[in-house]
Amino acid sequence: MKFHVMTLFPEMIEQGMRTSITGRAIDAGLISMHTVNIRDYARNKHHKVDDYPYGGGAGMLMQAEPVYLAWEDICRGTETDPRVIYLTPQGSVFNQKLAKELAEEKELILLCGHYEGIDERVLEEIVTDPVSIGDYVLTGGELPAMVLMDCISRLVPGVLSNGESAGTESFEGNLLEYPQYTRPEEYHGKTVPEVLLSGHHANIEKWRREQALIRTLERRPDLLEKADLSAEDKKILEKRIDL
Ligand code: ADE
Repeated sequence: MKFHVMTLFPEMIEQGMRTSITGRAIDAGLISMHTVNIRDYARNKHHKVDDYPYGGGAGMLMQAEPVYLAWEDICRGTETDPRVIYLTPQGSVFNQKLAKELAEEKELILLCGHYEGIDERVLEEIVTDPVSIGDYVLTGGELPAMVLMDCISRLVPGVLSNGESAGTESFEGNLLEYPQYTRPEEYHGKTVPEVLLSGHHANIEKWRREQALIRTLERRPDLLEKADLSAEDKKILEKRIDL
C-alpha cells in the first residue's frame, strides 16, 4: 500500500506515521508514504494558498489551483488512477468496512483541507471519496488522514505481528470485542473470570461470544441490527434484555 498525502503540514503526517507500528511497517517496506506539500504548488511569490470566499462569510478557503497541480504531479508518478479521499466532516463516516475496502487498493491519495475548506471546483474534479471520521469538526484533515492510514495499514498483510489479531476484534461481524485479562490473576480484589483459567477452549469461546454480545447490546445496540446472529446468540440477548 502506498499513501500519497496532500497537505499543508507534511511534517505532522511524517512524524505521526513514522512512529510505532506504522513506522515499523514503513521501515519494513510493507507500506510507504509520500507527503506532498500543497504550498509548493502555489505560483505566487509568497506561496499563498488561501483566499476569501466569494459571497462573504467567515474564514479563508484553499484555492483550487495548487491543489490541482499537486494532484496532477502525484498522478504523473502512479500506474493507475488512485482513489482520492478528501477528509471532510461532510463525507460519509469512516468505518471498518470502508477500511477493508480501501486496504485492497495499491495506492491511495489523501487530501487534507485546512481553513474553512477547499474551492468546490477542484473537489468536483479530483475527489472520488469524501470521508469524515465522525460528527465533530477538527482544525484540518491531517489527524483524520492519519486515522485512516493507521486503520488501513493494520489490515495490510504482515503489518501486525500476530496474524490473528486483525480477525477477532471489535467490529468483526459488527460486534464489539469481549473483555480481556492478563496477569496477575487478582488485581485490586478482582479476579479473572474462572472460565478463562480452565483451559477448556470450547467454553472459553462460548463465554467470549456471550460477552461480545452483551457488551455490544450495552454500549452499541445500533450495531446489532447488522450483526450476524445465530439462534443461540439471539437467546442470549433476549435473556439479557429481559433482565
Ligand atoms: N476535517 C475537519 N473535521 C473533520 C472530520 N470530522 N472528519 C474528517 N475530516 C475533517
